[in-house]
Amino acid sequence: MAEFALPKNARVQEGKTWGNAAGAKKPKTFKVYRWDPDDGQNPRVDSYTVDMADCGPMVLDALIKIKNEIDPTLTFRRSCREGVCGSCAMNIDGTNTLACTKFVEEVKEDVKVYPLPHMPVVKDLVPDLNQVYAQYTSIEPWLKSTTPAPERERLQTPGERAKLDGLWECILCFCCSTSCPSYWWNGDRYLGPAVLLQAYRWIADSRDEFTGERLDQLEDPFRLYRCHTIMNCTKTCPKSLNPAKAIGEIKKLMVERRV
Ligand code: SF4
Ligand code: SF4
Ligand code: FES
Repeated sequence: MAEFALPKNARVQEGKTWGNAAGAKKPKTFKVYRWDPDDGQNPRVDSYTVDMADCGPMVLDALIKIKNEIDPTLTFRRSCREGVCGSCAMNIDGTNTLACTKFVEEVKEDVKVYPLPHMPVVKDLVPDLNQVYAQYTSIEPWLKSTTPAPERERLQTPGERAKLDGLWECILCFCCSTSCPSYWWNGDRYLGPAVLLQAYRWIADSRDEFTGERLDQLEDPFRLYRCHTIMNCTKTCPKSLNPAKAIGEIKKLMVERRV
């Protein structure tokens, strides 16, 4: 098994080694990013040995086992443990994904676990999501209409409803935005793929009557046009969605309304 060695000049240092491989039927090593804002120390990477013969198959199962049985100070977010809440998004084996749907077995060597990249860290594997949620709020992610609500629901044809497929499934995990180089460098002004996919979800909704205003709000060299179609977002989405396509659809509507 190849040893995970950090470069000598890396700001993240190798840290403590936890757990005991002796007697383990199926030992697996997890190299986990650790940072505590209260201890005044630099970030480090701790090593944990987990017996996978006595653990669920997912990376989240192993993290929960580490927290419960080895090191209760390890901090991470999780809720649903079935890929629908988006809270366990992190960088595993070099890819942004959900810890609860990532099989440990898929990683042949040590499992490297880091927080989502290019985000401020609150503690350990917990990224600060304040900015992305403020950006999400800015696109007003709710149905806007001046037509009084009918007594029952607002109707759609099957075709109109189908236009929302591939959009409504987004769980706001931000794996895509944190894999996007444009978002890394201009995240303060560029909305990023997750928020733009959500913006398109409301633009594409036949019941929403504020399409023009929504497009006006995105007509900006940074908010929308910092997407350079690099496609990292679509490649990394753990729900197999296509945020780059949604962004392309917004750009197409921008052109169409000019002609
Ligand atoms: S397609 Fe656009 S949003 Fe997706 S990674 Fe590339 S630049 Fe970022
Ligand atoms: S598009 Fe995919 S990666 Fe991006 S926030 Fe939604 S579910 Fe997560
Ligand atoms: S715990 Fe909800 S998506 Fe992983």
